[in-house]
Amino acid sequence: MKGVTTEVIAEVRHRASILEVISETVVLKKAGKDYKGLCPFHNEKSGSFYVSPEKGFFKCFGCNEKGDVFAFLQKVKGTDFIDTVRYLAGRYGVRLVETAEEKQHYDRRSQFFALNEAACNYFTQLLNDPTEGATARKYLEGRGISEEIAERFKLGFAPNSWDGLLRYLTTTMKASEATLEEAGLVRRRAESTGVYDLFRNRLMVPILDDQGRVVAFGGRTLGDDQVKYLNSPETPIYVKGQHLYGFNVAKEAIKSKDSVIVVEGYFDAISLHQFGFDNAVATLGTALTEQQAKMLVRYTESKRVYLSFDSDQAGIKAVAGGAETLNQIAEGVGLDLRVIRVPGGKDPDECLRAEGGKEAFTRAMKNAPPMIDYELRQALQDADTTTHTGRLEAAMKIVPILAQIKNPMVRTEYIRTFATEVGGKEEELTHLVREQIKAKSRQSFRPEGFGESATKTMKNRGTVSVPGSGGLAGVLEAERNLLALLLTSREDYQQAYPVVSSVPFNVPAHRAIKDAFDGVGDQFPTVEDLKSRIMDRVAPDAAAASALVDVIIKVDEFRKQDRPAEIVIKDSFARLIKEYLELQNRQMRAKLASQLPENELVDLQAKISELRKLQDSFLLNANSLDELNELVVKIDAITGGIGAFAK
Ligand code: UTP
Ligand code: MN
Repeated sequence: MKGVTTEVIAEVRHRASILEVISETVVLKKAGKDYKGLCPFHNEKSGSFYVSPEKGFFKCFGCNEKGDVFAFLQKVKGTDFIDTVRYLAGRYGVRLVETAEEKQHYDRRSQFFALNEAACNYFTQLLNDPTEGATARKYLEGRGISEEIAERFKLGFAPNSWDGLLRYLTTTMKASEATLEEAGLVRRRAESTGVYDLFRNRLMVPILDDQGRVVAFGGRTLGDDQVKYLNSPETPIYVKGQHLYGFNVAKEAIKSKDSVIVVEGYFDAISLHQFGFDNAVATLGTALTEQQAKMLVRYTESKRVYLSFDSDQAGIKAVAGGAETLNQIAEGVGLDLRVIRVPGGKDPDECLRAEGGKEAFTRAMKNAPPMIDYELRQALQDADTTTHTGRLEAAMKIVPILAQIKNPMVRTEYIRTFATEVGGKEEELTHLVREQIKAKSRQSFRPEGFGESATKTMKNRGTVSVPGSGGLAGVLEAERNLLALLLTSREDYQQAYPVVSSVPFNVPAHRAIKDAFDGVGDQFPTVEDLKSRIMDRVAPDAAAASALVDVIIKVDEFRKQDRPAEIVIKDSFARLIKEYLELQNRQMRAKLASQLPENELVDLQAKISELRKLQDSFLLNANSLDELNELVVKIDAITGGIGAFAK
């Protein structure tokens, strides 16, 4: 991990003061053993943000952000884990353990950042050059882009030359041709030797990462080149779908306006800023990715995201085609998606520059319907509800969209409205939507997991509500309790570990924590040492590190309550088995839906009824751990099970 070994992480954690680090961002006041202040991750008037120097973590009881010193810096600075450890190692004087190769890889990334930065300077200098940049400046003026905005976005100009940038970077940066090629700034000649500038006679638009480092370029042709926009290829520092154009510039406005506007094109974003919509970013011609969605919500509390795509046919198709994925991402990340229909059949840039465009766009934004409404309207656009077939067709179009709505109350409300609209009965539409939901859940059924798909959409902030996975909140707690026992005392650890190692955990973050105990055995001086060791091991995994904070809080509770380990174990184990039993039951019932020969069907039905009996007896009688273990063996004997429970 580029010099960042477990030992280095441990040493950095030991030397770095979480209080000192967080105090640079948050004003902290002493509150008992802990410190308290205003949370930097959400807007609040009274402090619900706590720092525990003793435990080495922070937690906000308002927005539920939590983690260790690494997590804090990652969130505040937007850096990744490795960079954060490296930064703190430097600051607190911890030497990194690096192989030559690792050092080189890291230095290489730094070199690419530096080269892109230099290239960006080269392009901006040329744009501002009185003679060289005249045409490009005129072009910007023609598009209504002010000098101030051009500067804010670091726009530049690549001259019509084959080696302008090449010569500049080889002399000023001493970069080799091979390195420049790998950085995506030059291209190798096909017929002869040598390389040439990738961007020629183009208006240069640098793409910055969330920390403000130039990672790539888009270049718009100023001539009649067939390729309107030429973009940097992917490089070690630029991966498509990981960045949002303009994010770095828009960050503060996204925070203060508590919403973000997402458009497709570079100039749509730039133009929006020009007209005062300074919370705009662009996806760069691709569909919004999950990673981008996560960036968007980092700075909004409302999680309001306005999508504004061209309202030409292609734009509408782009929304419709990607809608389901978009809805899934939005639900996972918790976005409140609204769709802006740009007035006048134009892209946002053209709309704004037209007469009265700013007002028209503002209105469109104010009236932007939720994504689902937009889709439904779109589906019904050409519907003819005056005829019988027309009404049927319309219903068939909206059923899959309605089935995407997860909240049953919201869904019912929509069904009511749209039943009237397509001239059908509410009960009938409800029935069709239910069938669609059932069909879909059968498709997405995953026999190999244990609640895998259910937990996937679970976020570490927000509530747990997954359809069809009744006891998930209970499971979450059961798993957390078992993990907490491992850190409560040596005796509890010894009792709980055999159970923990035999239980298939549902929550991925919990699995990661459980794995961190692998190979520990009895080899730890005190549970406090064990705790530090586990913290160091899971630190690189943000979700696991965050879950570990809750586990450790639980540890404190257990110690205070002096709760017997046996009871906690039995209780947690029983809850997990209950979920396991339900899952097995669901799997068997799902099989019923597939085409089976008569004899297998009879067999399956017999098994289901046996399972049902077990479920009943379990609820009534299960008490000792041995009995619970026996139960698992019985379940697996009937279903063939996944065997993970049986030791
Ligand atoms: P558009 O073709 O809608 O261009 O592409 P635009 O943004 O309106 O461009 P202007 O106003 O004529 O300057 C939308 C986005 O798709 C990507 C770019 O990110 C562009 O902003 N694109 C488009 C490319 O990457 N390459 C292309 O050749 C065209
Ligand atoms: Mn345009």
